[in-house]
Amino acid sequence: MMKKELNNMLACPKCKNYPLELKIFDRKNTEIINGELKCTGCSSVYPIIDGVPRMIFQELSDEWKILQDEYIDWIRKSGKERISRHTQAILKDFVKSLNIDGGKLLDIGSGDNFVGTILSNTEYYGVDPYIRNQIHPYPFIVAYGEYLPFRDEVFDYVIIRATLDHVEDAAKVISEANRVLKTDGFLCISQSVQECEGFKKKAKNLFYMFYEDGINAFTELAEHLKGLLVKSKGKGHIREYTKETLLSEFNSHNFEVIDVLVREEMYLKLRKVRGRGNERKI
Ligand SMILES: C[S@@+](CC[C@H](N)C(=O)[O-])C[C@H]1O[C@@H](n2cnc3c(N)ncnc32)[C@H](O)[C@@H]1O
Ligand SMILES: [Zn+2]
Repeated sequence: MMKKELNNMLACPKCKNYPLELKIFDRKNTEIINGELKCTGCSSVYPIIDGVPRMIFQELSDEWKILQDEYIDWIRKSGKERISRHTQAILKDFVKSLNIDGGKLLDIGSGDNFVGTILSNTEYYGVDPYIRNQIHPYPFIVAYGEYLPFRDEVFDYVIIRATLDHVEDAAKVISEANRVLKTDGFLCISQSVQECEGFKKKAKNLFYMFYEDGINAFTELAEHLKGLLVKSKGKGHIREYTKETLLSEFNSHNFEVIDVLVREEMYLKLRKVRGRGNERKI
């Protein structure tokens, strides 16, 4: 769902210019169904289709189209069209641990936007490069975490769950998260790391399934291992973390660690502190 006011927060994901020129082709009351956003800085045009702005710029879009098709195909074949109850429980526990109190929240790699359904006192925004059955009415934008389509310092919270191990460039995503956060805003991470029970359980389950249903488990195990080894955007893990390597991702960014909780996954709450800006340029 997109309302015209969303454009007050948007910037071009490529050159960060704003405001974007908004053209509305089709609307239903205050909701924009089809339209277009144009950057006057670099001339990129981003279509809005079925209420969803698609903010992937030209240089990335050919590869994106292929990956989007592969992703949908994988979701269908793997039967992972719905978020599992187990994942829902983790997300509820994670969000509860954050004591979120009002403001604007961006979920990077939002999947189907389930987190939006847990939060009642926050304005929820989701971005994910891949389109699946995202839960509406939350504002949702098709975009890469490495190239966020927002202006600087617009969010009070950014959350990233189970996504840093999927992205092409984790440092760039963290740098973008830092840019769109207000000073004193919170970056909240939930990530399975090798020391967590969830990580071990996953490996154990695959092992038991192997005995119960050899062929299926073998295929799944092979897929899992392939996911660990093959650089596969979107659906597989590009990297896997330990507690230490996850924490070290934040070393060169302007964050201070507020909380580290190890549950089924590792939860991290960091605060954006004032500084010279990120060392790493986007
Ligand atoms: C394991 S899912 C987690 C989804 C959701 N956060 C949750 O907890 O249910 C990983 C998500 O990362 C997304 N993703 C992959 N590459 C990405 C990128 N470069 N930037 C942002 N999200 C990405 C995938 O499309 C997928 O929805
Ligand atoms: Zn631009």
